Amino acid sequence: MGRVEGKTIIVTGAAHGIGKATAQRLAEEGASVAITDVDDEAGEAAVDAINKNGGTAQYWSLDVTDEAAVEEVFADVVDAFGSLDVLVNNAGITGADKPTHELTKEEWNEVMDVNVNGVFYGTKHAVPHMQDAGGGSIINLSSIYGIVGAEDIPPYHASKGAVRTMTKTDALNYADDNIRVNSVHPGFIWTPLVEEFLREQGDVEEGRKQLDALHPIGHVGEPDDIANGILFLASEESKFMTGSELVIDGGYTAK
Ligand code: NAI
Repeated sequence: MGRVEGKTIIVTGAAHGIGKATAQRLAEEGASVAITDVDDEAGEAAVDAINKNGGTAQYWSLDVTDEAAVEEVFADVVDAFGSLDVLVNNAGITGADKPTHELTKEEWNEVMDVNVNGVFYGTKHAVPHMQDAGGGSIINLSSIYGIVGAEDIPPYHASKGAVRTMTKTDALNYADDNIRVNSVHPGFIWTPLVEEFLREQGDVEEGRKQLDALHPIGHVGEPDDIANGILFLASEESKFMTGSELVIDGGYTAK
């Protein structure tokens, strides 16, 4: 019996990186996984890989900043798989890397729209389905950047701080509905998001070495390091956890 056997799980931004690894782990452990993303080709490829491996997955094209689409896709997923038990609010972007006084309103809002509004829309339209099902688990991707500051990407820090506290408020509001809400706080994980961030700054290899050195454990993490934490929060193994912060950061925030 898999650790999330029989559960229906939506993962946003699941075509690449942490979301893709998470969808794969959840499927390996028996869940029916709805992979959603804006990159349709990569999303379909992620679904094919899971189904070829004996898992159950289906792809929906979904931009998390489009509230009407979020509502529609979540209803479609429930029609296809029968219920909605777990939502992983994973889609996220880093956005402009400038000090606050140089940022435009548009650059600020772009990050808020994906990282904060996307989590709001996802939670808003998952909760009624979970109430119907008698409970559920919502897992929000925050970051170490939602806990501590650094000298870069101010809108990203603000967005991830918002996700951290939205998680706690929703945990309190929906505890009576048996819906648990927790946040995950990765250190730097080697994904297209981080690679692109380093490319914009210059030398990717040199940048990676500098990032490795920021983690007491000696290196950046892998998508599976986070996927395994999300799997735990999705499963009944974490049934007494809500409003919590699962920090998986190679010791970054222990300093
Ligand atoms: P990634 O860039 O590798 O993957 C993000 C996925 O989200 C992509 O498939 C992309 O197409 C999708 N996406 C982007 N905008 C979207 C939108 N509007 N609607 C739907 N999908 C959209 O990113 P990564 O690294 O896998 O990050 C996943 C989450 O983990 C993000 O929320 C990120 O902020 C968070 N995180 C990542 C860390 C890292 O070091 N990689 C560290 C801490 C948090």
